[in-house]
Amino acid sequence: MVPLAQRMQLVSESITLAVSAKANAMKKAGIDVVGFGAGEPDFDTPTFIKDAAKAALDKGQTKYTPTPCFPELRAAIAEKFNKENGLPYKPDQITTGAGGKHCLYMAFMAVLDPGDEVIIPSPYWVSYPEQVKLAGGSVKIVRGEEANGFKITPAQLERAIGPRTKVFVINSPSNPAGHAYTPEELKALADVLAKHPQIVVFSDEIYEKLLYGGLKFVSFATLHPSLLDRTLTFNCHSKSFAMTGWRVGYIGGPKPVIDAINKLQSQMSSHITSFTQVPAATALTDPRGAQSVEHMRQEFEQRGRHMWERLSALPKVTCVRPQGAFYCFPNVSAYFGKTVGGVTITDAVSFAAALLEQAHVAVVPGNDSGFETHVRLSFATSMQQIDKGLDRIGEFLKKLG
Ligand SMILES: Cc1ncc(COP(=O)(O)O)c(C=O)c1O
Repeated sequence: MVPLAQRMQLVSESITLAVSAKANAMKKAGIDVVGFGAGEPDFDTPTFIKDAAKAALDKGQTKYTPTPCFPELRAAIAEKFNKENGLPYKPDQITTGAGGKHCLYMAFMAVLDPGDEVIIPSPYWVSYPEQVKLAGGSVKIVRGEEANGFKITPAQLERAIGPRTKVFVINSPSNPAGHAYTPEELKALADVLAKHPQIVVFSDEIYEKLLYGGLKFVSFATLHPSLLDRTLTFNCHSKSFAMTGWRVGYIGGPKPVIDAINKLQSQMSSHITSFTQVPAATALTDPRGAQSVEHMRQEFEQRGRHMWERLSALPKVTCVRPQGAFYCFPNVSAYFGKTVGGVTITDAVSFAAALLEQAHVAVVPGNDSGFETHVRLSFATSMQQIDKGLDRIGEFLKKLG
């Protein structure tokens, strides 16, 4: 027997993974499951990026690289931040990691001491609290109410700030609820933080390109002069360029923190995969990158509107209209306490399990995101699948009554 470290008790098992494992097993067994679980674009990585990776391999870019990445990629990321986001980072203020997830984890490890508190608005991306706990921090959830489009208010943020608050996490556009703050709403949060110079901001901007209804994206660090020196800006290629499996993420921020993250990474994983680095730079600098993102964004906007209309038409279901990312997050709690096929629905987990088992539709329960009353449906799938899945959900709800 290998005794495990105590820290392993801090991390929760993912309910989400249990549901998706079940959906995969059903698919393998030949069952026609409609999958709304995926947190990734259904588009392929653009050909010009794949070609750049093939060229990198052929050129022999298969050896160790500097920890932050090749200078070409560092410069391309700095230029992207400067041009697109108005963030004046220099190349030595940039580092990369194996996806946005690894970047966030390294950053929590680099800034948190035991007992430091991290404010996370809910509904939240599942990994934030787990990463904070692993880094020795404690989590303070601030609830974004459905009635306010899942967005927290400046007053809520002000109330949550205490003497141990070290980090505030902001993710807009957001997973799992697809909500996005307006520039004015973000500015109001930034004004609160301006009064608390000890707080570091983690701005997770990985869905920046997927915004709908003409909403404008702003990088959080630009919202107040005092924020640039204490904000870490996270981004990645996963969602924008349909490159989830490539594991390319990046961070811009104050040089001392970036240096600390590099020190950590140099002992952890050394650097990201060598032959993804030049293609990652190409994705940012070649105009075809922006074109492919915009094409995907337009598709997602149509699908999101369609899924939201269909969800909103379901009896007793409420759904905030998604303004970004590729998720709808309907409230299904009106069906709690009802029984279907011998199963009583008590929360989003039992709802999702029964829906999968009995109607062959996979959704993600909101429990791991702090909302036991909601489920997440990804619209990174075809219109046909959206209609087929929503037809099935409609029938399933009829049985629940
Ligand atoms: C809000 C948010 N942050 C970070 C990540 C991690 O992205 P990556 O796949 O690049 O690790 C995800 C992935 O789903 C996400 O939704």
